[in-house]
Amino acid sequence: MASAAVSEETDWQRLDAALRPGDPQPQGWYAVTTSEEVPETGPIGADFLSGRVVVYRKASGEPVVMTARCPHMGADLALGDVVDDAIRCTYHHFCFGPNGSCTKIPSEGPIPTAARLHSYPTAESFGLIWAWHGDETPLYGPPTVRDYEEADLVFRVKRTNVFEVAPWLSIGNTFDFMHLRYVHDLDFTVEPEDVRYEGDHHIELDIPFVSKETGAFEQRIRVTGTNVVSFQTVTDHTTVGIFTSTPIGDRAQTWYVAAVPRDEGLSPSEIEARLDEQQKFGDDLLVDDARTLQGIRFKVGSLVAGDRAMVTYMQWVSRFPTAPPVAD
Ligand code: FES
Ligand SMILES: [Fe+2]
Repeated sequence: MASAAVSEETDWQRLDAALRPGDPQPQGWYAVTTSEEVPETGPIGADFLSGRVVVYRKASGEPVVMTARCPHMGADLALGDVVDDAIRCTYHHFCFGPNGSCTKIPSEGPIPTAARLHSYPTAESFGLIWAWHGDETPLYGPPTVRDYEEADLVFRVKRTNVFEVAPWLSIGNTFDFMHLRYVHDLDFTVEPEDVRYEGDHHIELDIPFVSKETGAFEQRIRVTGTNVVSFQTVTDHTTVGIFTSTPIGDRAQTWYVAAVPRDEGLSPSEIEARLDEQQKFGDDLLVDDARTLQGIRFKVGSLVAGDRAMVTYMQWVSRFPTAPPVAD
């Protein structure tokens, strides 16, 4: 494809820059930790974007994700305590409610107006805690899987690699047909025109694959935002995978969810075997990618015809709404 067909050079530069701390990042639902890692009582901390967040559960179990740096004198709120659904700083006992506002200070005098945290819109699904980075009202809903509700699935989540590339790039493997063919050794017949851009925030694609190792299977794929891909892997039965990637500093933390549709006819060991099967699929991809995605300093150079689907995806990413990281 001629380079004239790709978008302006400034767009590519923006993509290239997309993982420097402090740079605007694509808006989206980002996994900050797993459900399991957040206890019923007490907070944990997690790196997110160019800063840190505190994550805890209200008495109802609902998760709260807020910036972790105490606006009083900078203590890490992840080292504090949860008291009546608020996080209490360990340093001077300022308390912050789930909406980020300071609810109480132990000393006399009014609460300073600057004493507030950023509270992220939060969701919990597929064993992950998601935080919305972007406009106050999320532009789209938390990630989903085609044809299945979360309640229809049994799942297992795993914290996987930390890569030195922006989330959109590892998700872009889905549209990188040369990479799928020659690195992951998958055979398939799909045209770039088969990729369906569904509105501004989702992409869908069905790919009939043949793998030398596992034979024929079909994948029914949905990309949500620039950092989540879910897929059904269909053989004589269906398993489901979700891969997602979150900016932390100048790197990206990835997670992989293996899932199986609830089926009354399956024994617990059969369900485990199918989860193992989907997990192996993800693990094998990550083994191939561990080398590929470590050393990239992304730039668009000499494109070829086989890059067409990837180029369309990159143009979509370059137009995706961004937001600056919230200051600590
Ligand atoms: S630093 Fe948190 S209350 Fe003083
Ligand atoms: Fe890959």
